[in-house]
Amino acid sequence: MRINQYIASAGVTSRRKADELIAEGRVKVNGAVLTSPGYHVEEGDIVEVDGARIEPAGKKVYYLLNKPAGYVTSTADKEGRPLVTELVPDSVRVFPVGRLDYNTTGLLIMTNDGELANALMHPSKEFDKKYLVRAQGIVTRDEVKRLEAGVDIGGFVTSPAEVHLAKHDRNSTLAEIIIHEGKNRQVRRMFEAIGHPVLELCRTGLGDLTIGKLAIGQCRKLSPAEVENLRRAVK
Ligand code: URA
Repeated sequence: MRINQYIASAGVTSRRKADELIAEGRVKVNGAVLTSPGYHVEEGDIVEVDGARIEPAGKKVYYLLNKPAGYVTSTADKEGRPLVTELVPDSVRVFPVGRLDYNTTGLLIMTNDGELANALMHPSKEFDKKYLVRAQGIVTRDEVKRLEAGVDIGGFVTSPAEVHLAKHDRNSTLAEIIIHEGKNRQVRRMFEAIGHPVLELCRTGLGDLTIGKLAIGQCRKLSPAEVENLRRAVK
């Protein structure tokens, strides 16, 4: 497909305006500023307009975002707070799969694939969700056992979890917790239930996906194999 048609079909602007963008040097293909308006986009080309990657209409996109604190996991916010959708450099509108609290950081899938997103969020799909927690005070082994056995978080007793204490200083404890449910503010409520409010919370893993070395605020595309794995997991 000719580049101006490709840009127009992605909903960025009209074909004529696309030609202007090219002439102004605002379009890149595979990292290089495009100089030829007659260029034909090929499978695998990465096309950017003003630094934002664009995709042809109808294409499903899948990102893994390392959410920073101070962002709302939503596509709109009445209070005008920053949105996670602003962190995905794509002309395609994506939305978050599930939620992380405003002050929670870490792994969040962003996509425009509603079908897969709904399947992933369905309560029957109990993916391992791994979190790194900094909790107030020193968490004891007995308290770990309580968390692992299940605690009452206000009308709901959590199902068995895995907890590993990493280290502590005089005022706080660093621990990893793996849960399979996704109740609202579940990890925070679990630690509140044992008397150790959460000071910092980061989701580091979801099913087979891990946050790895992805810097906070950055996102990357999921590989076709990772998307296929997710599809298989919800079948
Ligand atoms: N549990 C919480 O308490 N908050 C999150 O953001 C995610 C899990």
